[in-house]
Formats: sequence, structure tokens, C-alpha cells
Amino acid sequence: MEKRDIYPVDEKTAERAWIDRTQYEQMYRRSIESPDAFWADQLDQLDWATRPTKMNESSFKRDEVVIRWFADGELNAAYNCIDRHLDERADQVAILWEGDDPSESKRITYRELHAAVGKLANGLKSLGVSRGDTVTLYMPMIPEAAYAMLACARIGAVHSVVFGGFSPDALAGRIKDSGSKLVITADQSLRGGKRVPLKDNVDDALTRAGTDCVERVLVVQRGGDPIDWQEKDLWYHELVEGQSSECAVETMNAEDPLFILYTSGSTGTPKGLKHTTGGYLLFAAMTHRYVFDYHDGDIYWCAADVGWITGHTYIVYGPLANGATTLMFEGVPSYPDHGRLGEVIDKYGVNILYTSPTMVRALMAHGDQVLSTSRRDSLRLLGSVGEPINPEAWHWFHRVVGNGRCPIVDTWWQTESGGHLITALPGAIDLKPGSATLPFFGVEPALLDPEGRELEGAASGNLVIKRSWPGQARTIWGDHERFVTTYFSTYEGVYVSGDGCRRDEDGYYWITGRIDDVLNVSGHRLGTAEIESSLVAHEAVAEAAVVGYPHEVKGQGIYVYVTLNDDTAPSDELKRALIDWVRRDIGPIAKPDVIQWAPGLPKTRSGKIMRRILRKIAAGELDGLGDTSTLADPGVVDELIGSRGR
Ligand code: PRX
Repeated sequence: MEKRDIYPVDEKTAERAWIDRTQYEQMYRRSIESPDAFWADQLDQLDWATRPTKMNESSFKRDEVVIRWFADGELNAAYNCIDRHLDERADQVAILWEGDDPSESKRITYRELHAAVGKLANGLKSLGVSRGDTVTLYMPMIPEAAYAMLACARIGAVHSVVFGGFSPDALAGRIKDSGSKLVITADQSLRGGKRVPLKDNVDDALTRAGTDCVERVLVVQRGGDPIDWQEKDLWYHELVEGQSSECAVETMNAEDPLFILYTSGSTGTPKGLKHTTGGYLLFAAMTHRYVFDYHDGDIYWCAADVGWITGHTYIVYGPLANGATTLMFEGVPSYPDHGRLGEVIDKYGVNILYTSPTMVRALMAHGDQVLSTSRRDSLRLLGSVGEPINPEAWHWFHRVVGNGRCPIVDTWWQTESGGHLITALPGAIDLKPGSATLPFFGVEPALLDPEGRELEGAASGNLVIKRSWPGQARTIWGDHERFVTTYFSTYEGVYVSGDGCRRDEDGYYWITGRIDDVLNVSGHRLGTAEIESSLVAHEAVAEAAVVGYPHEVKGQGIYVYVTLNDDTAPSDELKRALIDWVRRDIGPIAKPDVIQWAPGLPKTRSGKIMRRILRKIAAGELDGLGDTSTLADPGVVDELIGSRGR
């Protein structure tokens, strides 16, 4: 019997909550049994130009996969995030911005946000950007990143945000695939006192992309260092200067694209997931309100980067759609020192903090005193996202960061899902450390065995979702077939999440991690295939296999087996060179943690690398290697065990 580690809903939280236990049960049942009526009730969370009469028209059937919600509705996302709040809260702070340097900060009211977005939207129009065009954003965590997303939304352009930590090559691929007409960037980004030359990277990317789809590059001045200037370049401040702050919103169909966001899969190049306007925004607003139990006046901080889906949904669209005050942090929690997170919380009186297990573990490694420079007594609720949170980190988060007073919502979701799918609601659901608990409204999870049979009761299996939810990605940009193959072909009629999961006797879900060849490093998704193809592009490398292994802080670390070309001798210097190669090729997040020289790799007779075995060796689980008799050359395994760590 597993120890009963349960944190029941406390009365104070339940009293103020939008959703209590009974409401959760009733609303969840209705969302499953009478979905059209349920979703029709939720439409009021947004302002529609044309209120939809159609609800869910999606199908998960392999031959006709279509995801469609509110298809006859019309709205504008920027209008919902800005204009509709102006009557009541023009002078309320919309974005609290905390710079990398603790002495820098800004407070942007809804009125100011309206003006900044209007000016940029007019500026974009003057450059010829219009409805349906794609725009790549490669930006630091500065208010202009949010302005740019919202300005695109205002005029019906589709943004594609690329995380500022990605390399020129990674950026090039994404610019090209999205066919962007414009790139918005900054001269530099500042993180932890370090400068990243974003504009240089864009120049490099455009040379590499070998495409002339990009007509202009708009540059925000952030760092101030001199940069090379190309003919296409234009300063952001010069473009917006003199523009009117009034820019009429473009009325969009609910199914018009709002943005593309690239994410890694188990094979091939990163996929550009397409999210549309109505369903995404409704799901973003609704999950933000209910999961964080957001009420007027709350100060809310999601400590993610806008380059990831978490930043899209829970820094920008969800909170702003709800008229919230959202904190945007340019820096890292370890700079100038490890007390920063707590100091930012105290500085702004943050009530709700949403962060990742990696961040918690990184702080935890410095001991309980690490936050002694702050009180954090404004905190009411904590949230976790990106990877499974181990109970030890959960308890530390609860006891130290939240002073033992704040519930933790562990939110399971994905770039593909747009918003939370399995998560606690603080006033409704008792918490079990390490479990994402129960499904959100309208979400119907199931566990399947490898043959696709649904498992009942307490069980472990492949986590799938049986019906569409409004925030679901509609397709992969330019490749619907890949969308169908990736998510709907393994099993008939369900969405395959790619995660493994256990359900306990209370019906609680415990995510166990990816079951495909996707790594989750510090909550960031990386495809093993991407790292492998980067490595084999190096002249010394004949073959490479990448697997994840348990890492104390990052959750998963990157373990690489490399077979060198015959004429190359292994050396520590070469290891360093290969690590640097991957860092430059993909970005610092993809940097291998361990490289092991592998004279041979374990392969089946048909030539398939047996990653199961490589994973075990990397994790040091040498007893349970399982059946190696199907290998072409079983001797390879002994050799790899013998040379572990070398
Ligand atoms: O494996 C799951 C893990 O992150 C994956 C999705 O990654 P990405 O699309 O980059 O989105 C991250 C932010 C939503 C999932 O397939 N994951 C995310 N949240 C959790 C999680 N694993 C366990 N618990 C979570 N709360």
C-alpha cells in the first residue's frame, strides 16, 4: 500500500474559489454528457463579434481527422485581451515587467497596452503585413514581445514565436517552414547578465534559410550594443513613432489561425502546430480563471518564456483575456543570486506563482535558506508545469516557497493542447503530491494498453484523450497528414498524447513521462532525432544515439552514444567540441550532458537501434537489461557497460 499523502482542499481556498467540489463534479459531468450546452454556457467568457451557434464539430477518425470549434463564431483575440477591458480597467496594470537587472521595471496599464499594440499594428500594416500573413518573433522577454503577439492578432496576422535560446539554424528552419514575411527581434537579449546577439542570429538565419520570403526585419533596441545593419532592417521605435494608437480590429472567424508554435516530436523536423482563435482563446481564459482561481486584483506570475506554449497561454492570452495583471520576467531566478524569485514575489506582492519542477529543484539544491531574503507572504497559490514533479520537490515547493500555506496545482498539458488538460482546481480537488489529479472540463482521458484496449480502474498505460477540447491544435502547419499520423494513427479514434500514465484507485492521474523518443529536459521538449542528426553532421561522427537519463535538477539529462569515424581518435577535447557543436547547432538547451564513446550500438538484425537498452545503461540500471538475444551483436552491450562514463 502506498502511503496516503493527501492535502485536502482547505476551507478558505474553497470559499473564495470559482469552483468548489460539488461544482466541479456537476460541471465536469455536464461537460461530458451535454457538451454543446456546457460549451454554449462558457461562451460568455469572451466577447464575440458573432456569437457561435456551432460547438464541437471535430472528428478523431483516422480518415477524416478534423478539429473544429465554434465555426460560425467571429471575434478578435486582441480585442478580447485589451479593448473590452478599457471601460472598467484602463488604468489597471496589465503587464508588470521586471527586467533582468533588478533595478529595471515597468508597469503597463491596459490603456498603455492598447496604445502600444495599436501603434505597432498600424506600423505592421504600413509594412504591408495583413490578414493571414505569418510573422516570426524571436525576442527577449520584454513587453514588446507581448505587443508584437497582440498586434499580429489585432490585424489577423499569424505569429510564430521562436524561443530566443534557439540557434540561427533552428530559427532558419522555422522561418522557412512558416513562410514568414516579417521577423521581429531585438538587438540583444539580456538574461542572467549575459547578452545573446539575437539580431546577429537573425542575420545568420536569413542567410541560412536560403529563402527570400522575409521582406523586413523589425528590431527592438534592448541591449544597445552596435549591430550590423542590413537593407531589410528597421528599428521598432522608428516604425511606431508617429503611428496612431487607434487601429481597428480585424474580425476573425473562430477557426482562423492565431499562431503557429513549433515543438519537437520523435522524428523529423520540429512541427509547427497551428492554433486558432476562438477555441484557443476561450480555453486559455477559462483554464486561467479556474485553475489559478484568478480573481480581480490578483497579481499573477507565470515564470515561463513567451517562446513556449506556457508563455503564450499563461503569460499573454489567458491572463489578458481575463483582465488580469500578468508579470513578465526578463531574467532568470538565479540572477543576481538565488534569492531573486522570492524578492520578485515580495516586490510586486505576487499572489499566484506558476513555474516548473526544474526551477524548484534548482532552488532546492541550495537548501531551505535560499529564499531567506524574502517573506513570500502574498502567495496564495502555486502551480507546476512542464514535467512530472517528484514528491520531494513538491513538498519543498509547498513548505519553503509557499510557507506551507499554498495549494499546488500540478498542470499536465502540451503545446498541442493549448491549455491545461489534467490539473487540480484549488477549491475543488484534494491534492496528492506528484499527481496532476483529475481532468479539466470537457477533457476525457483514457489509458490504453499497447494493443489499444482501454484499461479500467487503477491501471497504467498510454494516455490518450477521447474527444476534442476547444484549445486543441488544429493541424501541423502545411502538413495535415503528419498531424494525422503523429496523433491519430497509433490507435483508432483517440488523440495520442505520447505520455505514459498511471491512474490510481481514486481515479487520479500520475504522468510518468514520454513514451516516445522525445526528451523532456528542464521542462523543454527535445527530439532525440534532432540531436542525433546534429551530431552525425559533425565530420568526426559516424553514428550517434541519444537517450534521456534521470537528472537531479533537469528531470532528464541528455546522454549521447557516439561512434566515431575509423580515422578519428576519441579524446576529451573532441567531447567538448561535440557538446559545443550541438549547442551552436540547436541551442544551449540541447547541449549533451554525457557523451560516451561507443565502438558499436546495440541493433536488431534489421538495423534498428535498441534504445531501451541504451536508456538502461545510461541510467545505470545494469541488472534489468532484458532480452538481448534479438540483437545482431549482443557483445556490443557488454562493451558499452564496460566503458560506461568513458
Ligand atoms: O510529457 C509531458 C510533459 O511535457 C510534455 C509537453 O511538452 P510541451 O509541449 O513542451 O509543453 C510543456 C508545457 C505545457 C507532455 O507531453 N508535461 C507537461 N506538463 C506536465 C508534464 N508531465 C508531467 N506533469 C506535468 N504537469
